[in-house]
Amino acid sequence: MPQLIAANWKMNGRLDWVDKVGELAALTGEAVCERLICPPHPLVGAMARAAQGSGIAIGAQDCSEHEAGAHTGETEAALLAALGARYVILGHSERRTGGETDDRVKAKAERAVGSGLRPLVCVGESLAEREAGTAIPVVEAQLSGSLPQQGDYDIAYEPVWAIGTGRTATARDVAEMHAAIRRHVGVGPRILYGGSVKPDNAALLLGVPEVGGALVGGASLEMESFAQIVHAAKAD
Ligand code: PGA
Repeated sequence: MPQLIAANWKMNGRLDWVDKVGELAALTGEAVCERLICPPHPLVGAMARAAQGSGIAIGAQDCSEHEAGAHTGETEAALLAALGARYVILGHSERRTGGETDDRVKAKAERAVGSGLRPLVCVGESLAEREAGTAIPVVEAQLSGSLPQQGDYDIAYEPVWAIGTGRTATARDVAEMHAAIRRHVGVGPRILYGGSVKPDNAALLLGVPEVGGALVGGASLEMESFAQIVHAAKAD
């Protein structure tokens, strides 16, 4: 499978950011990887329309585990799919910190799969857990608890201490963790790395065995830097 280079815009975006799809298409027309942008929910529909025919996929950053109903403020997976989303990021550490449990991530992932979205399920250890030598069992427990029973999905390994900090895991740590995740889940899902991926470290990280792509926050807000990361990706 080609690598997946995914932009997580988090709570950043204005109406005119829809134009960034065209900018990215112009900068990366010959991309060998899959490209994905996950904007805030209100931009999903307009961005999916703008992305038509470009080969760029649009995704969401979360969805509800419920079907439509009395869930104020939540967004239904089926509605995101109808708007043109193809992926949904689930269990990001910024949501897990806010109280999102493995069980809830799993229920969301199953709802997403049933609605035609491909979940990108995030896992990752805290700095204290890495320093205590428990990073791998912590991530294995998150995988056991949050992956859907059925359907296609991808995983993003994002060490919490590397997100938005400018610190990245070493290539050796990434190789070790991605091998452990692969042993745990078997063949199938891509295992993306995330956490301070930038144009200057992307080729190194994307070249590590079992790294199936990158989930990019800060460096995905400007299309020039995100395009450089896209160009660092490999076809398979
Ligand atoms: P970052 O964010 O690239 O800004 O570290 C990554 C993420 O949170 O997905």
